[in-house]
This record gives sequence, structure tokens and C-alpha cells, in this order.
Amino acid sequence: MLKILLLGNGQLARALIECSCHFPVQITQVTTAQCRLENTTGIRSLIIKEKPDVIINAAAFTNVELAESQPDLAWLVNAAAVDGLAKLVSEYDILLVHISTDYVFGGQGITPWCEEDQTAPLNVYGKTKRGGEVAIIGLCEKYLLFRTSWLHSPWCSNFIKSMLTLGMNKEHLSVVSDQIGAPTSASMLAEAMLHAILVTTRKPELSGVYHVAAQGETSWYDLAKYCFSVSSSMGIVFKVKSIEPVLSDDYPSVVLRPLNSRLNTDKFSRCFGMTLPIWQDDVSTTLRSLLCQPEHE
Ligand SMILES: NC(=O)c1ccc[n+]([C@@H]2O[C@H](COP(=O)([O-])OP(=O)(O)OC[C@H]3O[C@@H](n4cnc5c(N)ncnc54)[C@H](OP(=O)(O)O)[C@@H]3O)[C@@H](O)[C@H]2O)c1
Repeated sequence: MLKILLLGNGQLARALIECSCHFPVQITQVTTAQCRLENTTGIRSLIIKEKPDVIINAAAFTNVELAESQPDLAWLVNAAAVDGLAKLVSEYDILLVHISTDYVFGGQGITPWCEEDQTAPLNVYGKTKRGGEVAIIGLCEKYLLFRTSWLHSPWCSNFIKSMLTLGMNKEHLSVVSDQIGAPTSASMLAEAMLHAILVTTRKPELSGVYHVAAQGETSWYDLAKYCFSVSSSMGIVFKVKSIEPVLSDDYPSVVLRPLNSRLNTDKFSRCFGMTLPIWQDDVSTTLRSLLCQPEHE
């Protein structure tokens, strides 16, 4: 049984807990209330007490808009605290598993980003997440750094949940149509991560950076339309009558976001022998879970 210390209690952390029963792992979860990421002394005590083989950091400052007005806090959580974590895992010889984002890239072109492509984050969130990556790559010998995109789940806040709520309350919606990427479920990512962790404990040479996202590509606008179409076919009645595509430049936002969020996942599939699902199937699974069990928070 692999002992995993899981930091965080957001959508990915919940998905990891849920799918851990399918893997030979024992997860101890640490919520924000129990120990903040920047509390290095607290995390050291947890390591000494739990003696984990692996630490998964699923905690982060993820509010992209808020990061613009709170850059110091975003840097503290996403970069400085990760630097502290990287030093701790090196000291105790623990495999560190960390999540980063397509937002570390600059968004030009239409080619899916490969792991070794030049990063050039456009916003504070992306810059702080890149800071975390630099710390891990520079300090850790044993790590898995997964970059993913557009996470969704039946839990917490995400685009799909926001769209369904808006669609039930408004007649007209405007959704950005020129940012292209792949919506990826927290459940699918969790399964891919646990599989890769188990393989890497046997083959430490697989340590490194990987892109993990659902297959195919779409825009936020087409994703919204897909969600309404699938939900309507399940009998959900919406108030929304029209959805208008808008360009990023015409959409009021304090954040500059990459237009090209495509991630090339070939390295992950090749190294870990896992085929990733197409985004439509992955989104449908989340919708079914969300709409059939509406008590999800
Ligand atoms: N969401 C996306 O679309 C997306 C896309 C690409 C990559 N990612 C990355 O994927 C990872 C998981 O994202 P997610 O969507 O699961 O995030 P999430 O639902 O927002 O959860 C983030 C978690 O981090 C916790 N947290 C925040 N500040 C903390 C601190 N200082 N100390 C300890 N915990 C803290 C939050 O706790 P509280 O709720 O108690 O504050 C929350 O439980 C993150 O690294 C994120 O950057 C996300």
C-alpha cells in the first residue's frame, strides 16, 4: 500500500479521494483548515507523523481574477510555498506530485503545447504557477508535474456549474469563443495521476513534467452549448434562449488569458500507456453526476 499525503480539499482533491478506492493507496488528506501550504513547519510535522511515500499537492490559489489584485498572496501559495514543499520532499526523499496549468504558456498559434515548449505566462496566476514549476524542477529529484486545463467536476466552482446556473436564471448569455482548449474532468485527471504515481514508484526514471487533458479541443462557447444540449436531453429545463459568441477582446475581464490552451498529451500516453478520453465523453460524465445527484456542493 502506497502512503499518500494529499494537500487540499478542492475539486481535484475530492476526485482523488473518490477514485483512490480503485488503487492500492492509502490517502491521508490535509485540508486548508488543518495546515496551510505555506506552513512549512506544519507540513514537516505531518511528514514526520505520517511518513508518506508520496505527497500530492492539490492545493493552490486558483482564483485567476483575484490573483490580479492579490499577487503577493498568489505568489506565496503557488510559488513560495511550493518551493518550501520541494525542499521538504527532497530532504525526506518523497515523490512530489504537483499540478500546473496551460496558463503557463503565452497562447499564441494553434499548435498544442509540448512539455518542453517555452513558457510565457500572461497573467499573475500563470506567473505564480510557473514559479511553482521552476522550484520543483530545480529542487526535486523525484517529482511528477502534471499540467492540465479547464478542470470540471460536480464539486466546487467551475465553468460547467457556472453555465448551468446562469442558464437557469438568464435568457441571454455571452460566452468567449476564441479561447481554445480541452475541458478535463477532475475525476479523469485523478485516475491518470494515481496510475502514473504507481508506475513511477516502480520506474523513478519517469519523474518529470507531463501534460494531461481530455482529447480534442473546443472553445468556452462551444463547451457551453454542449453542456446545455446534453442537459436538455436529460430533461433539464433552462431559461436561456440565446447564447452569443464573443471575442476575448470584447469580453470585459481584468485578466489576459491565452487563446491557445491546447496541450499535447502524447508524452503522458506514451510513458504511462493510458489513453485519455475525448472531452465530450468526459464532460457528459460530469454532467450526469452533477444532474443526477444535485446535492453536490
Ligand atoms: N481549475 C482549473 O480549471 C485548473 C486548470 C489547470 C490547472 N489547475 C490546477 O489544478 C490544481 C487543482 O485545482 P482545483 O480546480 O482542484 O482547485 P480548487 O477547487 O480551487 O481547490 C484549491 C484548493 O486549494 C486550497 N488552498 C488555497 N490556498 C491554500 C493555502 N494557502 N494552503 C492550503 N490550501 C489552500 C483551497 O482551500 P479553500 O477552499 O479552503 O480555500 C482548495 O481546497 C491547482 O494546482 C490548479 O492550479 C486548475
